[in-house]
Amino acid sequence: MTPDDDEFGFILESMITMPLKGIVYPPSIYSLFNKNSYKENNSIVSILDGQPADYNPAVKYGHTNESLDAVVNGLEVQPSDDIIGVCGSGDQAFAMLENAKSVVVVDNNEYQVDYAKERASMLKAGDIESFLNLGAKKYGNKITDGNDVRLYFSQPGRLERIRANIGNLEIKYAKDFLDEMKEGRFSKAYLSNILGYYGFMENKEEREAYIEKIMARLREPGLVYITNGATAFVSCPPGIENADELTAIARAEEKEKGLLKWSPAVLRRAA
Ligand SMILES: C[S@@+](CC[C@H](N)C(=O)[O-])C[C@H]1O[C@@H](n2cnc3c(N)ncnc32)[C@H](O)[C@@H]1O
Repeated sequence: MTPDDDEFGFILESMITMPLKGIVYPPSIYSLFNKNSYKENNSIVSILDGQPADYNPAVKYGHTNESLDAVVNGLEVQPSDDIIGVCGSGDQAFAMLENAKSVVVVDNNEYQVDYAKERASMLKAGDIESFLNLGAKKYGNKITDGNDVRLYFSQPGRLERIRANIGNLEIKYAKDFLDEMKEGRFSKAYLSNILGYYGFMENKEEREAYIEKIMARLREPGLVYITNGATAFVSCPPGIENADELTAIARAEEKEKGLLKWSPAVLRRAA
């Protein structure tokens, strides 16, 4: 697997938001970036992936910048699945909850955790309008007509199914994803683009070791979804392979519906 042209989203995020290594910027500089850079008409959305670990200003993701169809279909979410994922806006958690047995999402930004919890409460209370529009109202995250997220959740029956399963969603703070991964508890993992997030695990060896640990703790069928797959994960460690058909599905969905056109990878245990 090599980086390809589809990885526009990752490159764009990196260029705009990645702080130069070793430089600690004053918060005022970050606040220049921290404007939830949006372009109308389905182009650039909130992009602030590049922050030092101790910089944690607020909610950065009012909505996902990924295709929810890519995540749900790439992971082949099934009623037997217990899924662990990265929280962010919570959109991916809600989407996976439609068909999964249970979903646990974690975030090391407590503001995102509170935000996603607030949205879950709105959905639980049946306040669909607020659930869909909280990001726009509270944090200025605009939602355009082309936004996959609103269209996604507006499919007939979808929010009702998610709401019916809301008791099986857990949203929590965790310093790192792996801390929550009790062996055998989960069947699938959604990593989003945490590999490479503000320099987290920049080298191939560290990433491979991280993926190996995640895979080792998953029960069958053991799928791992990596949003920035093409750039973050260029080779598989022993015992792990690219689930080519699922990766192809996820990439096709991203190309069609994703806002930043990520190039995801889905990994599984080697046959
Ligand atoms: C990886 S970012 C990317 C957002 C994503 N592209 C989307 O559309 O939602 C999602 C969240 O992951 C959190 N995060 C980053 N690295 C993490 C880690 N190692 N463990 C837990 N959460 C992490 C960030 O705080 C952020 O809220």
